[in-house]
Amino acid sequence: MALTEHDVRRLERALALARKGCYQVEPNPPVGCVLEHEDGGVVGESWHGAWGGPHAEIGALALAGPAARGATAYVSLAPCGVRGKTPACAAALVKAGVRRVVYGAADPSPREGGAGVEALRAAGVQVEEARGAVHEAALALRARFDRALTRRRPWVALKWAMSLDGAIAARVGAGGQIGGVRARRLTHDWRAHADAVAVGVGTVLADDPRLTCRLEDGLPDGRSQPARVVFDSTLRLPVRSRLVQGTDEAAVLVLTAAGADRLRREALREQGCTVMEVPGEGGRVDLGAALEMLHERGVGRLLVEGGARLHGALLRAGLADQVSAFVAPRLLGGDEALGAVRGTGIEDARRALVLDEVAWRRVGDDLLLQGYLPSA
Ligand SMILES: NC(=O)c1ccc[n+]([C@@H]2O[C@H](COP(=O)([O-])OP(=O)(O)OC[C@H]3O[C@@H](n4cnc5c(N)ncnc54)[C@H](OP(=O)(O)O)[C@@H]3O)[C@@H](O)[C@H]2O)c1
Repeated sequence: MALTEHDVRRLERALALARKGCYQVEPNPPVGCVLEHEDGGVVGESWHGAWGGPHAEIGALALAGPAARGATAYVSLAPCGVRGKTPACAAALVKAGVRRVVYGAADPSPREGGAGVEALRAAGVQVEEARGAVHEAALALRARFDRALTRRRPWVALKWAMSLDGAIAARVGAGGQIGGVRARRLTHDWRAHADAVAVGVGTVLADDPRLTCRLEDGLPDGRSQPARVVFDSTLRLPVRSRLVQGTDEAAVLVLTAAGADRLRREALREQGCTVMEVPGEGGRVDLGAALEMLHERGVGRLLVEGGARLHGALLRAGLADQVSAFVAPRLLGGDEALGAVRGTGIEDARRALVLDEVAWRRVGDDLLLQGYLPSA
């Protein structure tokens, strides 16, 4: 049965809601859901807002409560039928008594294999897939998910805070926060929804960070502390660092190259760190191999919080998927100020890496700029 104009408008709303999850949900697809009662009124709408967080359908059902009985669910992507990090949505829609489901595009994951649509139909729910422009728009929204499915590495989200004059530190090793309180709070929220948080060993030597999620209300339901990952080819990571001394708070993975000092390796292991030897050239950890190893250990989303060299190396290797940069209204100046991305750069501005689907918003007194890299 062809969709009505009304159906298309509701699906467009579901797509608009889905876009609110961009930069937060990947490598999952952004998904939005609108639940409409038989009398035409919207009884619940929601979107998938974070990796590992509740799916759009579950949020909409929670808002609708008993009003979901007999309703139509408009979803940008076919509801899942297989339990992942969260319970299957198809079963929840059936249980709530939803009568009809209209979706923008199928779920392409081999794991899912159309299980959601099958489960809905088997339960007597009327299911329809969109066609035409709204279907194309749903496919476009899914495109990064499609690409991520065929890669054997985590989604790599770079995050930094910089002064208005583009510095992430006054000089290497200089202390002090650059982003404001709200930016830092949001960063803790991102940590809560990452499987791991990574830094280069230079950042540990300079700042001695903990890299845990420290939200006032604690970790969100179902989330645990992200693992902390240090790229450290020659094991310069100090045993007295807060990371190494805090392995009871969250796991610490140290990615090192072959030939790193055996005694240092043992000392880190004794403190509870996992030291992983990664193939590499010239005594340096190979980033592609390192990401593959993290993926094998179940890291789907990796938040990279510096420093400048690690950012540069990931960008140069085409291994970064998104950038979230806080721009603070502060000026640092100085010849030693550290730019956000170091290493071999681009010689001609006309060849600069240009971010895609850029979004800006205010976070406290800072500006947050987010965008996807072409590799995503
Ligand atoms: N404002 C912010 O948002 C922010 C955030 C984080 C850091 N920072 C600042 O950034 C500064 C530290 O940055 P940084 O650039 O000096 O250090 P970094 O990027 O944190 O660490 C770089 C080190 O990572 C190791 N590494 C291992 N494998 C690598 C690979 N394949 N490619 C590149 N590096 C690899 C290298 O040491 P080995 O060769 O020994 O392995 C390299 O020297 C500090 O001053 C810190 O305050 C600012």
